[in-house]
Amino acid sequence: MTVTALKSSDIKEIDKRRTFGIISHPDAGKTTLTEKLLLFGGAIQQAGAVKARKNDRHTTSDWMTIEQERGISVTSSVMKFNYKNFEINLLDTPGHKDFSEDTYRVLTAVDSAMMVIDSAKGVENQTEKLMAVCRMRNTPIMTFINKLDREGMNPLDIMGDIEDKLQIECTPLTWPIGMGKRFKGVYNIYKKELHLFSPGSNAMDGAGITIKDLNDPKLNDLLGSQADELREDIELIEGAADPLDLDLYLKGTQTPVFFGSAVNNFGVRELLEVFVTMAPKPIPRMTLTREISPYEEPFSGFVFKIQANMDPAHRDRIAFLRICSGKFTKGMKVRHHRIGKEITLSNATIFMAQDRTHVEEAYPGDIIGLHNHGTIKIGDTFSIKEELKFTGIPSFAPEHFKRVILKNPLKTKQLQKGLTQLAEEGTVQVFKPMRGGQFILGAVGELQFEVTMARLKNEYSVDAIYEHVDYGVTRWVDCTNPKTLDSFKEKNLSNLALDSEGHLSYLTTSEWQLGFVMEQNPDIRFKKTREFN
Ligand code: G4P
Repeated sequence: MTVTALKSSDIKEIDKRRTFGIISHPDAGKTTLTEKLLLFGGAIQQAGAVKARKNDRHTTSDWMTIEQERGISVTSSVMKFNYKNFEINLLDTPGHKDFSEDTYRVLTAVDSAMMVIDSAKGVENQTEKLMAVCRMRNTPIMTFINKLDREGMNPLDIMGDIEDKLQIECTPLTWPIGMGKRFKGVYNIYKKELHLFSPGSNAMDGAGITIKDLNDPKLNDLLGSQADELREDIELIEGAADPLDLDLYLKGTQTPVFFGSAVNNFGVRELLEVFVTMAPKPIPRMTLTREISPYEEPFSGFVFKIQANMDPAHRDRIAFLRICSGKFTKGMKVRHHRIGKEITLSNATIFMAQDRTHVEEAYPGDIIGLHNHGTIKIGDTFSIKEELKFTGIPSFAPEHFKRVILKNPLKTKQLQKGLTQLAEEGTVQVFKPMRGGQFILGAVGELQFEVTMARLKNEYSVDAIYEHVDYGVTRWVDCTNPKTLDSFKEKNLSNLALDSEGHLSYLTTSEWQLGFVMEQNPDIRFKKTREFN
């Protein structure tokens, strides 16, 4: 089909956009790095602003006491800032131990990711999980190895760990000179430049010291005995490490690696400089029918996250929409395909680092917030005319399960209503067993259960408790042959349930048990992710 292209001024706007998320294990330094990036972008004026938000979420999340009690962010947000001539959208992926499906889903709306690794710890399990999600869409990833001001693993061993555990080729663009007390700075391999570190200066590390080559005697004056160590290291990695290949980075199979110390603001500028030039502009997105280029003139976008409003009395929600093509203008009319209606996008919000402002115009790569009263669900596609449905916004098979028991059986209706709405928001997954009455809730992180219970009570006046269930794994099942499926259902009725959208799910105790059932039923497909309807 032929589609008209955007004006050249709009194309320039799109090319300026970089939309990314940071993936890391808790405590690796994601918040600290976020803060430094925002400082460079002038989006915040003083260090501590993001950190303060992490520690004290009152301003943004008064609605949920649970957040205050635990001092963490349950929901993720979007921060927009500029750097040089680039418009950067940083999507926050909550990194708490009890992270949720939201964390995963945010990654479906980014064009690239930054991975933060604690140099003392190497690859940790949450990073592995998040990386698995990035791999589903071959998301390009840059790596920042943090906390070089402390003793950590040998840099070569860290890269080896990343290559082994995450199956991605590492190509260092900077190299650390010593670590811990001996940390002298980083050598910028591609610019042949030294950046020297002075602890605690928190400098916005500017220009480095250019050296012609590593044999420059200036190096000895600057680094003493560590000059030779650096020479040996660089010789070693130039022989052993793969050279940077932009194509491989963009395909998600090679990651450029940077070393530094986020808290000292060291090595961050180098990361950001390379990021804006190398990281992808808004990329094309697949729909059920065709690929959509960001440069197509008609507007389109999809919803990847719903956040309940801060004020429970109003019970409205904000849907986070990633723009995929065209230009958004305030008041434009779009088609909401799932409900088959035209709606006016009159009061969209754009998320700045510290506050929200009403948005007049926005472009592919941008995220806008749409207020609604339950008419928008995760996975919804909005476009101008053409019937589109963006794909790749999955639901992930939960790993934790609990049964909900009502304290007052007369509240069944409210419970149903609450669970339906919370499932639509992606707060929790709801399963109705095919045998037995009570709902089973499924979550990727345990915290989702607490949030669900708090919200059922506050917003739906439902008093319930959880009961342990002996499940640890679920898969969505289907089969092209109805007879095979029927016979499977008959034999496994007590392990089957329907999720909130009516999809058949198989629940069992362990991966081992699941493997056994899969072996017995080779014609049944057991799926770990499912697309939203
Ligand atoms: P997260 O968002 O990934 O969970 O990590 P966060 O940035 O909150 O950092 C976790 C801890 O690591 C913080 O210490 C932070 O100051 C520290 N940190 C971050 N970058 C560096 C670094 O380059 N070097 C060193 N040595 N530490 C770093 P905290 O004690 O938990 O908090 P705070 O008291 O320092 O605020």
